[in-house]
Formats: sequence, structure tokens, C-alpha cells
Amino acid sequence: MGSRIPDEDIDRVREAVDIVEVIGAHLPLKRSGKSYKALCPFHSEKTPSFHVFPESQIFKCFGCGKGGNVFHFLMGHEKMEFPEAVKFLADRAGVSIRETGGGPQDASSRERQGILDALRAAASHFRSNLKSEAGAEARAYLEKREVTAQTADRFLLGYALAGWDGCLKALAGDVRESYLEEGGLLVTSRSGGKYDRFRNRLVFPICDARGRVVGFGGRVLPGADEGAPKYVNTPETSIYRKSRLLYGLHLAREEDLRGEGVVMVEGYTDVILLHQAGIRNAVATCGTALTPEHVSLLKRYTDRLSLVFDGDEAGVAAMERGLDVLVAEDMDISVVILPAGEDPADFVASRGGESFRDAVSGGRDLFDFKLETAVRKEDVTTSAGLSRAADEVLALIRRVRNPVKRESFLHRASEGLGVSRDALSSRLRQGPKRVSPLRSRRAPSSSSDARARCEGWILEALLGDASLFARAREEMPSERFEDPTLREAARRAFEVFDRSGRVVLAQVIQSEPEGAFKEVSERIFEQEMADCLPEYKKLYEDGLEEIARLNLKTRKGALQSALKEAEASGDRERKRALLEELVALSCQIESKSSGQ
Ligand code: CTP
Ligand code: MN
Repeated sequence: MGSRIPDEDIDRVREAVDIVEVIGAHLPLKRSGKSYKALCPFHSEKTPSFHVFPESQIFKCFGCGKGGNVFHFLMGHEKMEFPEAVKFLADRAGVSIRETGGGPQDASSRERQGILDALRAAASHFRSNLKSEAGAEARAYLEKREVTAQTADRFLLGYALAGWDGCLKALAGDVRESYLEEGGLLVTSRSGGKYDRFRNRLVFPICDARGRVVGFGGRVLPGADEGAPKYVNTPETSIYRKSRLLYGLHLAREEDLRGEGVVMVEGYTDVILLHQAGIRNAVATCGTALTPEHVSLLKRYTDRLSLVFDGDEAGVAAMERGLDVLVAEDMDISVVILPAGEDPADFVASRGGESFRDAVSGGRDLFDFKLETAVRKEDVTTSAGLSRAADEVLALIRRVRNPVKRESFLHRASEGLGVSRDALSSRLRQGPKRVSPLRSRRAPSSSSDARARCEGWILEALLGDASLFARAREEMPSERFEDPTLREAARRAFEVFDRSGRVVLAQVIQSEPEGAFKEVSERIFEQEMADCLPEYKKLYEDGLEEIARLNLKTRKGALQSALKEAEASGDRERKRALLEELVALSCQIESKSSGQ
């Protein structure tokens, strides 16, 4: 990994910046003894375990284990490459650095930079179009929507010229065509010629969380070509990844999102007009459904999210399914449906920012919203309708891994459906017929493998269902694990559990998992993806039982060899005693196998 920045320069940069200041610009840090604390941006948590140590200039999260120096922080938090992080901080600290060499890795980061530069140049080209004579119509449209010049500046709004090669020509001298193309700015015609993707459109530059332009949305102007799509967007490129971008996030994150939460709307215009009305925590997806990936992006900044939907019924019905995957998220999500026929932009235009804020704070919790929808959709006065509504709600609850959240949902479902909690929870255990692939199919090849496999089940069960720790403390404390890696993992699991009452895999893994633990952790990751109910208690009990059986078998083997010895030495007394014990043991083994 030969960096092209000399180590000496890297050291100078690190020495010139203060990690507390750098991280403090991204997270609200609170002094706490010798360190500063915050909610960890790398995993979801309710109490801060992320620490920044001014003395050693490092950070460390005791929850998820992430840690490192100021460069590592930027690499993890801002997805920068190492040299990028060094340069970023060098700029800020006013340290000049030398760059030398240039391997293949440097080529790719140079290319990335080239594309970013091309996109920035395009944005400023569009911007100056808007201000020029050619932009009169687009300006008139913005004026009609009551977008101020200041707002247009803040959002870098622009206009793409009506011809075929306005952008291509304007940038030809400064920017390599291949960068324009890789940035998604060009389209290739059938004859192989290149022309502008964005033509005669109002242009919304789309920025990443750090405010770098990574793509564009182009809106048709009223009265323009009949039948043209309302929006033309940058296609997925190496830099523009819709599922990881939120429109307006780079501006919203300047606000105190921890306190306020984030308001998610559907359109670019909505974001812009909301910000203008003082609702600066508004963001939008780039024309896609909200995914768990977006949610984890937002978790860095807040744990409260309000989803605001335009009030037309078809739209609501369409988005409603898409929300299912969000129910299990560790985030307080609420849903706001605006009055019919209004989008957030119309709403603030006619009623103002304060009313919008009120509407948002009157949002329904996502689960309750789904529950109400299920009840409304089915005829719950019939038992078949009630069952269907219950099954729909249970399908959501089944996704939830957090037992406290699960319990709260069950309770609310019981009230909302008018069905006892017991009935719901027994139905929850029954269906659906998909059974969790908890156990590995691979047959163990030796008895120590067999033992490790059982220990793996037990550990997996503990990590899946923390309520099992209480039993395991007696029945299977970590010292009893024979596989050394699993023993260490179990030791850490108990330690973390004792400290925080819950344990996730990341806390138990110190480095790459190895041996039997690798298998366990892979199954946990798999489980994380699957939406079925894992039977951790059964897994745990099967593990214990199987270990007991294996112990008996080992004992039996020992008795058998002792018996042979007794026979050889002619010790009849001992032989009889051993035989007796052996018979009793065989009965026990017999009953264990048939009892399964
Ligand atoms: N969208 C898209 N392609 C379309 C239509 C919509 O990508 N053909 C995406 C855009 O991200 C758009 C969002 O869906 O911002 C919401 O669509 P819509 O409400 O139609 O657009 P607005 O931006 O809200 O525009 P306006 O309210 O000015 O009509
Ligand atoms: Mn709209």
C-alpha cells in the first residue's frame, strides 16, 4: 500500500490538527474525564461508548470496537481514501504536502478526483447559464415557485441549455471528455456520437454528505417538449450511488439533527422550499424508495426520522409496502401524510413553516401506522379478516430482533387488533413456515469438531437472545467452552453482557473471526439478513443436550478402555463394577437419543 505522500508529511499533518476539533466538527462531543464522548457514528447505540482521547489523539468505540487516529476517522466516517483524508486535513491546517510516484491505486483516486472536478465544473456551468439570458425561462419558473436567489445559490441550482452540446462544448477545453462521460453527463448516440444528457432543464445538483457534487437531477420546464419525462437523472456511476445519497443532507447536517431528527420528503423542490421556510432538517431520496441503507446513513446523525408523504392515495398505497423493511430499524420513525393534493412544497407555500412543523410533530409512529392500515384494509369483524390483519402485522414483528421492541409491538398489536397478546405470540411462533437456517449442515468430522459445533450453537444463541445469559452462567460458563476461539468469544460475550445487558457480534469480534467462530459469525450475519424467526432457545438447548450426550460418550469410551485393562489384569471385582457402570451409562445414552 505505497502511499504517494511521504510519511514525514503525513506526520506533520497529523501533528498540525487536533483530533478533538476534527471529530467535534462531525459529532457533538462531551467532555467526560480524560476523554470526550459521543454516540458512536459507526454503530447504532443509545448511550455513548465512542471516546476521543486528546492525549493520545485517538478515538475508540467500546461498543463496536472501531478505533484509530484522525485519518481513520475520516476514512470511516466520510468514506475518504487515506491520501484523500491526509490532503483534506492538510488543506485545513495549511500544511503543504508533497505528492510523488503514482501506482495503480493512485490512478484510480486520480480518476475519481477527475470525475468530481468535471461534475463541479458542470455545476458551475449550469449555474452561470441560469444567471445568463438563456436562463430567463428557468428563472421565471423558480420565481413562480417562490424560490429566492439566495436559496438557488445555496442549492447551486442551474439550467442546462436547450441545444445538444452546451455543456460538452463549454467544458471541452478544461475537462477530459472521459470524465464527463463517467460522471454521467453525456449520452452516446447510436452512431457513437456524444451529446449532453441534460438539455433545456432546470438542474438540481446532487451532493454527497460532504457537499461535493456527485450527480444531477434535471426537471423539465413547463411548456417544454410535450411527452418529455419530468426528470432526467444521472445514472448510477462510480460516484453517484442513489442508495447512499440523500438530497440536501450536506446542508441538513449543519443543523442539530440529534435533537430535531430528520424530515424525509419525496421531491427536490420540497427540500428546497422547506429549507427556505426554515425547515433545514429536510432531505429527500433521489427518486428512489427509502432503504435500510439510507437509514444507516442517517443513523450517523440522528435516531429520529419523520417520513412525509404527499397526500394522494395512489402514492400512499405505493409507498406503504416499502416501509415494511424499516419497521425493524433501531430508529424512531414516524409517518406524516399531508392533506390530499398537497406536497410539502405546496404546504409550506400556503400555510408556512410553523404549520408544517406541527404537521410533522403530529406524525404517527411507523408501526402504529402499519397496524392501523392493516386494520382498515381488512374486515376485522370477520375471523378470516382479523386473521389476515394479524398475520400482516405479525410479519412485521417477525422482522424485529430487539426483544424489547418486539414486546412493545406485540402489546400494541394486541390492543389494536383486539386479540390477546398470548394468542398473537403463539401465532408468531407458528407461522410462517420458513424455518431459520440456524444450524450448519456440515457434519462434524471428529469428536472435538462435534463439540465445537455445539459450543457454536450455544454462543450463537447467546448473541441472538441475551435472555439466555442468565441460564448459561450456570449451565455453560465460558470456561466450559473447549474450543479456544469460542471460549475467548464467549468470555468477551459474558463480559460485554455484564457491562451493558446486551451483546452484538461486533462487540465480541476483536479481529477477524477464526475457526469455529468464523462459522458462527457468518451464520449470525446471514441471520441478520433473513426475515424469519430464529429459535434461539431451542438452539441453545440442543447445544447443551448434544454436549451432554458427547460427554457421556467420552465417558463410555473411557470406561471401555478401563474395562479392557481390568480384563487383562484379571481384576474381577473392578471388572464387575465397571461393567455395571457401563450398562447404566448406555441406558442413559439410549434415553437421551430417543428423547430428542
Ligand atoms: N422523480 C424522478 N423522475 C420522475 C419523476 C420524479 O426521478 N420522472 C423523482 C425526483 O427525485 C423528484 C421526486 O421523484 O424530486 C418527486 O417527484 P415529483 O413530486 O413529481 O417532483 P418534484 O421535485 O416535487 O417537483 P414538483 O413538485 O415541482 O412538480
Ligand atoms: Mn412534488
